[in-house]
Amino acid sequence: MKKVLTLAALVMALSACSGQQASQNAEPVNISSLGKSEITDVRAADAMPTYPKRGKSIERGFAHQPPLIPHKADYPITLKRNGCITCHSPEKAKRMKATAVDPSHLLANGKLNNEYYSCTQCHTPQAENKQELVGNEFSAQ
Ligand code: HEC
Ligand code: HEC
Repeated sequence: MKKVLTLAALVMALSACSGQQASQNAEPVNISSLGKSEITDVRAADAMPTYPKRGKSIERGFAHQPPLIPHKADYPITLKRNGCITCHSPEKAKRMKATAVDPSHLLANGKLNNEYYSCTQCHTPQAENKQELVGNEFSAQ
């Protein structure tokens, strides 16, 4: 019985392979672009902002201010995972050389209080922005 099953599996695997080969030999499809114009005006890439050195906190302006983030802050914060907590949870912070979240962010059992889940609601990144500011020619007249 075992032998029969192995043989069946082998035949199936082989037929799967031949199926793949058939699609490789298929007629080539010719695709032409709908856009006929050439792109001539190429904008230079945006200057990258520079963040304060890692490991250096930005001085707070007042007591209990949510500290500014001294690094890029595009880590995903989704229902399934929180990109910030991978470095800032009390268990991982030391290893990641980051400051653990403030104790106020934790429940009595040490887990993150979900009221603090959306980190960037209170913490905002601070960078030296090399990009020129957008001009404003607004006039009330
Ligand atoms: C790859 C690891 C890593 C990730 C991910 C990360 N951080 Fe950090 N964070 C650091 C390190 C390292 C520092 C600098 C050391 C410090 O001051 O805690 C820092 C500093 C900070 C500080 C300043 C702390 C202080 O006391 O001044 C805040 C606030 C912060 N991060 C918030 C965030 C938020 C919000 C996110 C998600 C958007 C995030 N971090 C994601 C590693 C990380
Ligand atoms: C509701 C606002 C709020 C949210 C949401 C929030 N924080 Fe904070 N956070 C604060 C405030 C306020 C402080 C300063 C606490 C103090 O000094 O009394 C702080 C402090 C911190 C500190 C510094 C702790 C220290 O010991 O210096 C870190 C790191 C931090 N938060 C990370 C995070 C991360 C990561 C998240 C998301 C998981 C988060 N925070 C979500 C308001 C918030």
